[in-house]
Amino acid sequence: MSKRSMLVTSALPYANGPIHLGHMLEHIQSDIFTRFERAMGNEVYYVCADDCHGTPVMIKAQSQGKTPEQLIEEVGISHRADMQGFLINYDNYYRTHSPENQAFSQQIYLKLRERGYIFTKTISQLYDPVKNMFLPDRFVKGICPRCGAKDQYGDNCEVCSATYNPTELKEPYSTVSGATPILKESEHYFFDLPKFTDFLHGYVKEVLPPEMANKLEEWFAQGLKPWDLSRDAPYFGFPIPDADNKFFYVWLDAPIGYMASFKNFCDRQGVDFDAFWKLDSDKELYHFIGKDILYFHSLFWPATLKGSDHRLPTKIFVHGYVTVNGAKMSKSKGTFIKASTYLKHLKPECLRYYFASKMNNQAVDLDLALDDFIARVNSDIVGKVVNLASRSAGFINKRFGGRLSAQLYNQELAAKFSAAASHIEKSYEERNYAEAVRTIMALADEANRFVDSEAPWVLAKDEANNERLHQVCTQALNCFKALITYLSPILPEVYAASQDFLNDQLEFTTAAQPLLDHEIKPFKPLFARIDPKAVEAMIEDSKQDLKEAAATKTVQSADTASEYVPLAPEITIDDFTKLDLRVAKVLEAQEVPEARKLLKLKLDLGFEQRQVFAGIKGVYQPEALIGRKVIVVANLKPRQMKFGLSQGMVMAAGEGGKDIYLLSADDPAPIGSKVH
Ligand code: MSP
Ligand code: ZN
Repeated sequence: MSKRSMLVTSALPYANGPIHLGHMLEHIQSDIFTRFERAMGNEVYYVCADDCHGTPVMIKAQSQGKTPEQLIEEVGISHRADMQGFLINYDNYYRTHSPENQAFSQQIYLKLRERGYIFTKTISQLYDPVKNMFLPDRFVKGICPRCGAKDQYGDNCEVCSATYNPTELKEPYSTVSGATPILKESEHYFFDLPKFTDFLHGYVKEVLPPEMANKLEEWFAQGLKPWDLSRDAPYFGFPIPDADNKFFYVWLDAPIGYMASFKNFCDRQGVDFDAFWKLDSDKELYHFIGKDILYFHSLFWPATLKGSDHRLPTKIFVHGYVTVNGAKMSKSKGTFIKASTYLKHLKPECLRYYFASKMNNQAVDLDLALDDFIARVNSDIVGKVVNLASRSAGFINKRFGGRLSAQLYNQELAAKFSAAASHIEKSYEERNYAEAVRTIMALADEANRFVDSEAPWVLAKDEANNERLHQVCTQALNCFKALITYLSPILPEVYAASQDFLNDQLEFTTAAQPLLDHEIKPFKPLFARIDPKAVEAMIEDSKQDLKEAAATKTVQSADTASEYVPLAPEITIDDFTKLDLRVAKVLEAQEVPEARKLLKLKLDLGFEQRQVFAGIKGVYQPEALIGRKVIVVANLKPRQMKFGLSQGMVMAAGEGGKDIYLLSADDPAPIGSKVH
């Protein structure tokens, strides 16, 4: 078979938040695929990037007192570290805010315009008269027009699930400033998607599995609508050519970011970019995405490519959502687990294996059931696979000078290992990793039964059994060799360590060919069991992220607020007097190294000293606080945090991030005095 050549992508994570285990499902899925395709001898390029544009990134940067460029730079560094930590082998992890992407986005747009696919229309939208900006749906909140629930987003109600237009909300307010939005007109640029209806109707059947293409029938039945691809300033994005202060909507340039990331790679590596993207390219192009962004990838993206004379994706691979212990990931339960938090406690290959063992090519949700995760990883990788090697290597090294025998003991078992190869390959190719893992583990079970019945530790007691012992252990090690090679797309580090230990390249396509009369190295531990305590600690740590954010009570400040938080419910004077506010003097202040936001303070309240954790690290220098008089909620129930007991709370104004101002008492307020 001639070598295939392909470009593989994962969806581009937004640059306004951290990578979490939900994202990791996709990167692990595509990484296993590309490692497998490479192992089969195909030419594979594998790229991703951060999706940098749009209002959320702009607002987030503002609220942290940064430019969007600074924010995406920092986020890019942490996203790349997460990918590396999980052994995701991208050839390029780039960003959509790049010269390559700007050039492609404008070229594609101009081509679409030249072909008559762009038109303008004046529409009216909600506008924040204080911030002077149009408001995307999720930046407007108000009372649900159907059930009356408060503080619902502009497009749907989380209480009754109604969907509506932001203009239908009652008592709407801008989440950016708190102002009541007004309706304002502006000219928008539209992409004439309906013109592509016939083309898309046929194309989705080629690019998606039938059951998914069928689901899209609904969209076609409703009729495709023109796509609004412009946004008014202020907007973090690329300017639209020949338009005044208009920018491309983030979803126009995001998928073009796939091309731009690849282009950036090609320019550095001397790879032929056009061969992959020209109209009649014979290279394969695969996009891995989650089910929530199917509309963009199966309609908008192919239509923009088609309309601008580019090649189309060969297939779109759609996956479901990660849940943890059967429920949506939740910050308060500690199951919203960031990639970096996971990596502090656990090895990347544990999650890679667990996800793979449950992942097929259907867009169904995948549950990370934490007890099952521990049990499965420990019993499969350690109990069934690595143990085969550790139980046999000692005999080979001690009794046979580290050399494998020239023959195997049981040809039938060896034949089963070879016979399974094609089914395993087919399962990987079809992205049915669960089936690949099932097949590999069934072989592992056979191998363990063989070792148990031959009982090398019994054979070893009698010199007369030497040859048999040698062949049995050699076979067990060759079973291990095949298993770990078949698992290599999933467990790249254990595989690499095994290459060293078995002193061989361990080629995937010859996984079941035995190593005979061959020297191995001493056995080194290849994989450690998961300690359930590490999982507990990870969950605790994830809860801590939330607590750290809440460790300083901040009061909204009027002039610097860039994100309006609605007023809390009204309280009475009686409620208020329940707070015992005191003046306290800072005696000691130090950073908590393991915590992102916390300073540990020792406070003198006059009548006693207390330890309080405050979420102000990076805002205040600890030394500069010593001697200052701060206001403390003195009757707050003490709270046990991971770093120690917090006995109260210091008060501050501002809305968080760098926008935090400790409330302090002017001299000569005596320490301990009440603040009412
Ligand atoms: N920026 C867009 C994608 C642009 S692609 C040109 C976006 N970003 S995202 O960060 O929200 O999501 C990135 C990918 O992660 C998407 O494919 C999305 O489906 C996936 N996931 C996000 N949360 C997920 C889970 N909880 N579970 C599984 N996948 C999830 O969408
Ligand atoms: Zn409602």
